[in-house]
Amino acid sequence: MTNPVFCALDTTDTAEAVRLARQLAGLVGGVKVGLEFFSANGPEGVRAIAALGMPLFLDLKFHDIPNTVAGAMRAAVALAPTFTTIHACGGADMMRAAVEAAAEAAAKAGVARPRILAVTVLTSMSPADLAGVGVAGGLVDQVRRLAALAHEAGVDGLVCSPHEVEALRALLGPEPALMVPGIRPAWAASNDQKRILTPAEAMAKGASHLVIGRPITAAADPALAARRIQDELRAAP
Ligand code: C5P
Repeated sequence: MTNPVFCALDTTDTAEAVRLARQLAGLVGGVKVGLEFFSANGPEGVRAIAALGMPLFLDLKFHDIPNTVAGAMRAAVALAPTFTTIHACGGADMMRAAVEAAAEAAAKAGVARPRILAVTVLTSMSPADLAGVGVAGGLVDQVRRLAALAHEAGVDGLVCSPHEVEALRALLGPEPALMVPGIRPAWAASNDQKRILTPAEAMAKGASHLVIGRPITAAADPALAARRIQDELRAAP
């Protein structure tokens, strides 16, 4: 099977990110960089990682008016990511604009269109936080509503918590990508993640891809940690 693991390179240091990514080549399915790395190093930093040839998950969580998100998406496509992210609460028009802009820009550049993942409700939001921003229904309802909206808008999948993966797979069927962070092998520290699944558990519940950071990046031997995860996934039923 293709390796589903995207290793989160949560650092502001390009050299450190490149060093880690090099060690992990062949042992993970790709690497993820997000707002922390991008704010520090910009497209140039991303290009340094992309140059290693590994699938790239560019996690910039766009959320703005449709025209601006379309423009940002066109610029992001130039970095040839395999996956990129938008916020579903930007609405159906914003999500459609992102998908269309990605398709247009990819065709123009002669690269594959990145798969666009929507973030529903950030896992840092509690039900009280949601009520605070005016969402009256429950958290689960909001996740489901935004997931269905994203699906209808032509988004390729969702970023979702270990807690949500089973219900979203049941809701959306086999096609959409479900990219799941909050993953901890049985032998790794949980850090600040509260609701965790092991890599094999998350895949069994319907994840298509896994985001794993510190269990790999903070290990004494990151390549060994990635290899252990790869072996565990291969051995899973
Ligand atoms: O080190 P760790 O495995 O906890 O890293 C998880 C990565 O996934 C981080 O980049 C974090 O920002 C991201 N993430 C998360 N929980 C979410 C969404 C993204 O941990 N709900």
